[in-house]
Amino acid sequence: MTARNQGVRAILQSIIRPLILVSAALLAGCSLEQFPQSTLSPHSNYARSIQSLLEQLTFWVVVIFVVVMGLLIYALVRFRSRPGAPEPKPVHGNTVLEVAWTIAPAVILALVAVPTVLTIYHTQGAAPPGSLQVKVIGHQWWWEFQYPSLGVTTANEMHVPIGQPVEVTIESADVLHSFWFPIIGGKRDAVPSRSNRLWFTADTTGTFPGQCAELCGISHANMRMKLMIEKPEDFAAWVALQQSPPAAPDGSTEAGKGKQIFGQSACIACHTIQGVSAGVIGPNLTHVGSRTSIAGGIFHNDEEMLARWIQNAPERKPGSLMPKLDLPPDQVTALVAYLRSLR
Ligand code: CUA
Repeated sequence: MTARNQGVRAILQSIIRPLILVSAALLAGCSLEQFPQSTLSPHSNYARSIQSLLEQLTFWVVVIFVVVMGLLIYALVRFRSRPGAPEPKPVHGNTVLEVAWTIAPAVILALVAVPTVLTIYHTQGAAPPGSLQVKVIGHQWWWEFQYPSLGVTTANEMHVPIGQPVEVTIESADVLHSFWFPIIGGKRDAVPSRSNRLWFTADTTGTFPGQCAELCGISHANMRMKLMIEKPEDFAAWVALQQSPPAAPDGSTEAGKGKQIFGQSACIACHTIQGVSAGVIGPNLTHVGSRTSIAGGIFHNDEEMLARWIQNAPERKPGSLMPKLDLPPDQVTALVAYLRSLR
């Protein structure tokens, strides 16, 4: 094989290899099981609009890529240097060529800009009347969800009914955060003393992960959340449970002792349990036992993790505002029993 042929081969390989890598990456991104936060698995009208835009743009990009690379490869092979070949003719000053390569990029930019702007208008308009209102507040490092029309406040787990538009108002209690459930659609910043919003209609039931997408301090990576998309009757049952008064265990039980300890400890300064305490710095615990996770969605909500969390939160989550409590083990057991009873 001549050195020239090897050169042509190297150029072809340098074009084909990245193509194969990109296709593999795209295929891998399609599985929600493998990559639960994939942006390529839309489950709302908003995310589907973005997906459709991505597909349109990818189509045009592939067409342009194939045409340009085809012409390039043709030119490389057809006009390669041969012994005794004449000097190539310069194209400088060719009016037809210059007009053509001015118009072609303008057409390509229009192909990108028109669907993009249309999608922005389509997804960023006002939410339909009758949308479920959810207020999201980013905290270092957990998410608060309020449903003002339903009188419900919860943390780290957002419940919505399938098929009903949901308007989310996004705020921050301290620093910049970013609200992001990949299956809903785009990210939206949570900015102190300002409200951002987005709306979506979920179209698949299930539990989907999300997380803060703006560097917000030492536990930024520990600021996660879950989206529970439920059938309307399941959502109504969840709302009814959240609206009910909290459990009031009898004083003779372990949970009852825990309630007493809770009422006499530092817990009440930061946490609300309806009818028991009114702190607003940490998550509302009125129905904490009904949640699947604690501590910004990073731990399972079970006896063991709750006990470890209560004993020494900063060890489990760097920078945690909840201090190391160092309570006697029997008090921790009682507190855990009480919190678990708050279903
Ligand atoms: Cu909040 Cu990162």
